[in-house]
Amino acid sequence: MGKIDAITTEGSSLSRREFITRSARVGLAAGTLVVAANVLAACGSSNPPRYVPVGNLADFPAGAVVTKTVTDANGNNATIFVENIAGQAPLILSSVCTHNGCTVQWVADQSIFGCPCHGGQYNIDGTVKAGPPPAPLTHLQAKVESGVLSVLV
Ligand code: FES
Repeated sequence: MGKIDAITTEGSSLSRREFITRSARVGLAAGTLVVAANVLAACGSSNPPRYVPVGNLADFPAGAVVTKTVTDANGNNATIFVENIAGQAPLILSSVCTHNGCTVQWVADQSIFGCPCHGGQYNIDGTVKAGPPPAPLTHLQAKVESGVLSVLV
């Protein structure tokens, strides 16, 4: 095969070195755009968590587990469990199973959270009771202001 010393188009010509240099710059710019697009996609439209009112603390009976749905800062609905333990700060648990992310449910007659996907079980405080979950249910931050319970989602 012959060596290319110059590339000629209508009205202009590029030396082999100029062609390679320009091609490398175009490739570098395209690569930079791909990386930037991937970084933006990874970030998504992720807004920082914010406190969302869940209700009046008085509406959560002591000792009961109440299931609530809240909408996070990105518009996603999340199911949470609210436990108003007498004499303690309210306990707020995420319903997302720590095994593979299924939604756990409160099983009142057994006083556990059960996962329908692989049989994982959690105690009332969110610790793992049985099955494949590798970690407790996530505790969410909460605050009470003027009697209104809010959760950070
Ligand atoms: S996703 Fe819950 S036990 Fe597997």
